[in-house]
Amino acid sequence: MQSVTLPGGERVPALGLGTWMMGEHGGHEPESVAALKRGIDFGMTLIDTAEMYGDGGAEELVGQAIAGQRDRVFIVSKVLPSNASRAGVAAACERSLKRLGTDRIDLYLLHWRGGVPLRETVAGFVDLQRAGKIRHWGVSNLDLDEMNAVWAAPGGAGCAANQLLYNLGRRGIEWDLRPALSARGVPIMAYSPLEQGRLLGNRTLKQVAAARGATPAQVALAWLLQQAGVIVIPKAANLAHVAENRAAAEIMLTAAELAALERVFPPPGRKMPLAML
Ligand SMILES: NC(=O)c1ccc[n+]([C@@H]2O[C@H](COP(=O)([O-])OP(=O)(O)OC[C@H]3O[C@@H](n4cnc5c(N)ncnc54)[C@H](OP(=O)(O)O)[C@@H]3O)[C@@H](O)[C@H]2O)c1
Repeated sequence: MQSVTLPGGERVPALGLGTWMMGEHGGHEPESVAALKRGIDFGMTLIDTAEMYGDGGAEELVGQAIAGQRDRVFIVSKVLPSNASRAGVAAACERSLKRLGTDRIDLYLLHWRGGVPLRETVAGFVDLQRAGKIRHWGVSNLDLDEMNAVWAAPGGAGCAANQLLYNLGRRGIEWDLRPALSARGVPIMAYSPLEQGRLLGNRTLKQVAAARGATPAQVALAWLLQQAGVIVIPKAANLAHVAENRAAAEIMLTAAELAALERVFPPPGRKMPLAML
């Protein structure tokens, strides 16, 4: 499994597991827990969740999946903007820790920007880091102007990741945001790498996949995994999908395959508004 290095030097798996849409059925979802456990067994030990998903239900399922193997996994969770005041992040983090059944979150992100000044949220994250409740902190859905505000805040240089909508069909961040993050060694966590499945019907993607005996999902994931500093977090509740996604990490797309994809999924030619789901 490839890895990505966080700004402090720690390495995390480049391919992890998403959990949006999990935990929406009252904490009893054995298929989702089984899928997460299978992913962990396959080495996809970075798990992305959020207090928002299933209104805490996804964090509870992650807690079930990691029980007895906490030290093998790297847990990412997110605080809602409405809880992102200095005191609010502390309280939200305690609730998340309880649902996850752990004493620490490895990477804690601001889910998206709300009304709280970014410097206040950063101060809350730094407090949590000092208290040992979180090991790293970062952001999600922040464009370059907002990243600059984060970096300018006291402690802001500690930002360890920006989680963004990024896949073959969503390349806007390559214009100026990705280069700025890359210059500071801040990884991108590529969310909705399959565009929630909507990418998979694309004719060129299907052709490239068929020609090498892979699936369109594997090619879409391999395209992201082939880029430096990108952590990819597909969500799969289906065990066959988990296995398929893991195998994508073994695929190295050729220059000809990359060129074929580039013709249908071109990079941006100008600044684009930040895309979000
Ligand atoms: N920060 C943010 O604002 C934000 C926003 C969106 C998502 N995220 C994070 O990113 C994760 C991934 O994004 P996402 O869940 O939106 O979408 P996604 O990973 O692009 O797509 C998930 C969908 O694709 C299906 N799928 C997975 N593997 C497949 C395969 N090999 N072949 C065919 N279909 C496959 C899944 O089905 P099954 O479940 O049935 O296997 C599910 O319906 C989320 O779960 C969440 O953790 C973050």
